[in-house]
Order: sequence, then C-alpha cells, then structure tokens
Amino acid sequence: MKTKILSVASKRLVFKPNLADYEKEYKRFSYTEHEFELSYLNDHKINAAYNAVDRHIISWRKNKIALFWEGEDGTAKKYSFLDLCILSNKFANVLKKYKVKRGDRVFIFLPRVPELYISFLAILKIGAIAGTLFSAFQSQALEDRLGNSDAKILITNSELKKRVDVVRKNLPKLEKIITVEEEFWKEIEKASSALHIAAMSKSDPAFMLYTSGTTGKPKGVVHQHYAILHEHLTAKWVLDIKDEDTYWCTADPGWVTGIAYEILGSWSNGVSTLVYEGRFDPEKWYDLLSRYRITVWYTAPTAIRMLAAASAKLVKKYDLSFLRHMASVGEPLNPEPIYWGLKAFGKPFHDNYWQTETGGIVIANYPSLPIKPGSMGKPVPGITAAIVDDKGHELGPQKEGNLALKPGWPGMMIKIWRRAEKYNSYFKNGWYITGDKAYRDEDGYYWFIGRSDDVIKTSGERVGPFEVESALIGHPSVIEAGVIGKPDQMRGEIIKAFVVLKKDVQANDKLKEEISLFVKKNLAGHAYPREIEFIDKLPKTRSGKIMRRILKAKELGLPIGDTSTLEEY
Ligand code: WT7
Repeated sequence: MKTKILSVASKRLVFKPNLADYEKEYKRFSYTEHEFELSYLNDHKINAAYNAVDRHIISWRKNKIALFWEGEDGTAKKYSFLDLCILSNKFANVLKKYKVKRGDRVFIFLPRVPELYISFLAILKIGAIAGTLFSAFQSQALEDRLGNSDAKILITNSELKKRVDVVRKNLPKLEKIITVEEEFWKEIEKASSALHIAAMSKSDPAFMLYTSGTTGKPKGVVHQHYAILHEHLTAKWVLDIKDEDTYWCTADPGWVTGIAYEILGSWSNGVSTLVYEGRFDPEKWYDLLSRYRITVWYTAPTAIRMLAAASAKLVKKYDLSFLRHMASVGEPLNPEPIYWGLKAFGKPFHDNYWQTETGGIVIANYPSLPIKPGSMGKPVPGITAAIVDDKGHELGPQKEGNLALKPGWPGMMIKIWRRAEKYNSYFKNGWYITGDKAYRDEDGYYWFIGRSDDVIKTSGERVGPFEVESALIGHPSVIEAGVIGKPDQMRGEIIKAFVVLKKDVQANDKLKEEISLFVKKNLAGHAYPREIEFIDKLPKTRSGKIMRRILKAKELGLPIGDTSTLEEY
C-alpha cells in the first residue's frame, strides 16, 4: 500500500526548527559533543534539578516564569525560575532536617499542584531518589510501590494520605508523611534558602517510576541524573522548544512523560510551562490553550480523539493561532486524529514513541521532516533502533519483529529496583528489547504494530494485567480472573476482565458493577475493568499460567492459534 506523506511544505513551517537537518545531525551525533549544553558542578559532577532550574538564575531567565499553574477551581499562580530555585532549596533543607540522605527514596503522591514540582526538584537536589505516584492509586497499589522501594518519606495531601494510612502498618520503613496542608509550607517558611546542591556522578540515580509488565507486581524503573542530557536534547529537537515559547505538556508526573517533559527536559531548555491541575475537558483545554497563548503542545492520542469527538463548533470559538508545534505520545496515533488536527489547528500532531524504561523520546516525527501519518517517525539522534527477531538478529525493511534499541543512551534506565534478573531480561544479543512489535519502511520510518506481551494501554496509561487480576481475586465472590486490553475506538484499549465466580454466587450485572468498583477503590481509579464477563473456567497452560492470548482471541473472534501448551479447555 502506498502511504500518504504530509510534506514539510504542507506543514506550512513558518519557523526555523531547532533540528534543521535531521540526517546530518543523526550521522554526526555524539552525546559527548553535546555535553556542553549541560551545566556542571565541581569535578564534572552534575545534578538534574540544577540543570532544570538553578542554572537559569544566573542567566537572564532568572525572573522568567517557569511555571504557570492553574487549579481546577480557576486559581492561578506563577513561579519564576528564581522562585522555584528558592522554594526547592528550602524544601531540600526540610528534607535534610528529616535526615534524608543520598540514595534514600522520597515519594510524592499528589495531584498536579505546585508542591509536587517543588518537592521533586528538592529531592534531586540533595541526591535522594524521587518517586512519583499517580493520584488515582488506591491503597493496594500504594502499598506495593512504597513497600518495594522502602520509601522513607512521603509527600502528599490530607485527602490522599487516608489511602496510605490504611496500609501504613505494612510500611515499617516509611518514617514520615509530610502533607501540603500541614508541615509543607510551615517548614518551608522556617527553612534556609541556602543549599549546597549535591554534586552527583552522571550515573547516580535521580528518580524512579513503577511500571507494569505482563507478570508480577509493578517494577521500579530507576533513572540516572545524566538522563537530563537525553531529555534536554529531545525537548529541543522533537518538541522544538524555544526560549520564547509557552509550552503545555498535559501529562501527569505520576508517569514518566510528566517528569521528563514537564520538569526536566523542558525546563532545562528554559521554557515557560503551563500546568493545569484539573481533568480533561474539551472546553477548558481550548480555553487554556488560547488564554495562555500556548505555542508548543505535547499531549496524547486519547485526548486528541476526545477533542475531535467534541462539538466541531467548540474549537472555532477560541483563538488558537499561537499554536506553533504539536506532538503526541503514549499510544498509537492513528491517521484520523492527525487529519482532524490539520483541519482544526492548521497543523498536524507529531507522533513520537518512548517508554518509562527509555527515559526520553527515542523515535519521533520532527518539524523538519515529512510526516507519514500512522508512523512513529525516525530514531532521534543518539539512538540506534532496529527490528530484530526473537533471537535478537536484525531484520530488514518491511519485516515485522521486535522493536529494539542499542543500549547506552543517557535516558535509559540504569536498573530495576531490587530485581537485577528482571533488568537483564530486557536484553538480547546486545539489544534492548522494548516489548513492542513494529516494522521499518525503506525510508527508515518506524510503524507500530502492537505489544508483544500482555501489557495494556488504556487512555495511554500503562496497566499490567497481573495487578488487576490480583485485585479482582481480593473480592469475596471471585475465584480467579484473567485480564486483557480490549480495543476501543476512543481509549485505544479498555480493561476487560474474565471472572470465575465462587459457587452459589448470583451472576448478574449488579455484581459486575460491584466487582469493577471494588478494583477501582482498592487498586486505582484508572486501572479497573470497564467490562466484566463471567466465565466458567480460564484457559491455562499445563503449568497453570493464564493464557490471556486465548481470552483476547476469543474476545476478538480470532483464531485461537497454537494451543499445544494449553490444558484441556
Ligand atoms: C508503551 C510505553 C510514551 C512515554 C510514556 C509512556 C506505547 C508509547 C507510542 C506511540 C504506539 C506507543 C508502547 C510503549 N507507546 N508511545 N507513539 N505509538 N505506542 O510510557 O507508560 O512506559 O508506555 O506505550 O507500547 O512500549 P509507558
């Protein structure tokens, strides 16, 4: 099939992209040559938070607004780079008072409020490891993450704290909970703003995020301070962030996009960033885009599809002429939303691809290159990508296989917390295997096919089926459950659970609702099954593993495939 190409001309570029000549930069690229773009402490030591914020206070950007914050209720606040520097220094001193040391884990469980950003910077500044927890998580998910990481301090608010209190007795290492209503500002007021920023080696850990695979509980993906170099360069080249921009990344720092491109890479480029605390709402989003005169916008396919589904009249009500560059990430961006974007905004969304593990964008569409709608684009300078077979041997163009990357870029995870064998299992024949299936075309563009494991992407959020299954069997009526991602027009996938009930339990719609709510309340507000089907027996291998592949085939009405390992079904 011949693919359509959106030429650069049709993108009507009226600005000079930061990455003007992709091919040239890709060929000559080396990280060491770009190290001058970072600022160093003594002895070639670095600190990612220093690079994101503090270094700008010795430049003309000192009083520039770093953070435009708007609350759900319309309250608006502004913080300059200097404000963020001082506040994070002060909070760093508060953490020191609580005896937080290098390498200690300090977790943040907050909605998108200014305290989240201040805390994150403060934690990095003293060399501790910052962990973030998405505010939709409930007690079980919190216990798993805070327990595995042995978090010493948690920063949260009084409402969210209640979910931690329920499991606090199982978290003996958690010494202190700081709430934004109580200690946070009181302590900041008393604290000194003078701080000796921790001089870190490039490979020292800076932050960690729990993410899901097919099996087992979520794993703690750890990133180094040096990741800032990768995040800085990709924010500059892929998001095309310039000094005069006002930038809006709609992600939440509970996920890696919020950390890499709402805090580290974006601020490292000195840009003014908008953070909106509230939920997705088409009218509100257009209002924010126009009121803050957003020029660069980084969002996700589900949000774009939801905007497209909202009234077509709505978008015309707002002046969105300031928008200069738009990018999307997290799940496949099908061509329709790109064409809708062209119609609604006069410019296309630029799809790009990466993962929690990669720490930054690895494959992307760039302002200076033609877009092939439906393709994730080409590897960013510094990244060697390939399609490999299951043994790790490279495949040629148009061949479906595993999307793989050559290890060694600064954003790549440095370890999985306390699970060395899990970390090692990512590599084959010298390649980092992403877990995604894709192919490359003759022009070097990569095309996403799907996951090669059972990981679910619902509204762009990554959910492990095992976690949901574990939560389901906590319900008194449930014996076992198998969980899959069911394709969904709007959300990409929704979570569907096949549930085996205990004998004598009345199977009805009310029970489905009850079970679904049970997971929502115990595990997470975003990771509950929207659809439940009762089933007599789950397909399993002879060794007792649930075969989700079979459940999925059944759901889609597809042939079941190889069942040689299946116990009688
Ligand atoms: C998984 C990673 C994206 C960074 C934050 C999310 C899927 C990501 C794309 C894309 C198709 C995509 C992959 C990947 N994914 N971007 N442009 N097209 N699929 O990171 O939560 O760790 O999820 O999201 O399956 O492995 P994450």
